[in-house]
Amino acid sequence: MSAISLHKKIEENTGLLIFGILLVSAIGGLVQIVPVLNQESLQTAAAETRVYSAVELTGRDIYIREGCSVCHSQQIRPLIAEVERYGAYSRAGEFVYDRPFLWGSKRTGPDLHRVGGKFSDDWHRIHLIDPRVVVSESIMPGYPWLAKRDAIQAGKASLKMRALRRLGHPYSDEEIAAADADLEGLMEIDALIAYLQMLGTGLSEDISI
Ligand code: HEC
Repeated sequence: MSAISLHKKIEENTGLLIFGILLVSAIGGLVQIVPVLNQESLQTAAAETRVYSAVELTGRDIYIREGCSVCHSQQIRPLIAEVERYGAYSRAGEFVYDRPFLWGSKRTGPDLHRVGGKFSDDWHRIHLIDPRVVVSESIMPGYPWLAKRDAIQAGKASLKMRALRRLGHPYSDEEIAAADADLEGLMEIDALIAYLQMLGTGLSEDISI
């Protein structure tokens, strides 16, 4: 069969055409994805990147539950405008303990990847309860209920840590045993602030860009 008649046959047969498209895009996808699966730099933690503590992990789950990533990304691109505004661009190794990733794709608010240490805990507390108190023109919604709910209600941290350990996160038995006690007396807002304050702190200080 000549190339032209094969082409004609595929064009005239929708099923064959769909199969052909899927086959070609599957090959294209595999060529991109398979080599990355074993790329060491994507699986090795960046200099000071560590697993989330029980409190931070709970804060992260609250961040997911409240949909913060609908308006906030967590990835600083290697572009001058981004680095000048947000700080050092994000490295792959900083996300090895992020399950799921919260890179986001929409910036209604600013990127939060390097927000850790930028504001005090008190600033965050006021801002989360009513953003307009500290940023008068803010369109961010307030989350007053976070200050009224016990952090322990957001889910058992010890169970989450045990599940993550199965996936290779290096939690010790002591950390897991102490997890639920660490959340005692904290409100959801405290856990969320602990999470925000450690965001982007996993890169050694001498890397400025
Ligand atoms: C509807 C969109 C929207 C949602 C949802 C949202 N934010 Fe925001 N956020 C903004 C906007 C807009 C700003 C900039 C104005 C301001 O500072 O309030 C902002 C600012 C911030 C800042 C200050 C960042 C900086 O560098 O100045 C933090 C921290 C923050 N948001 C955290 C959160 C958290 C945590 C949640 C989820 C509980 C959340 N946001 C949900 C829109 C949103």
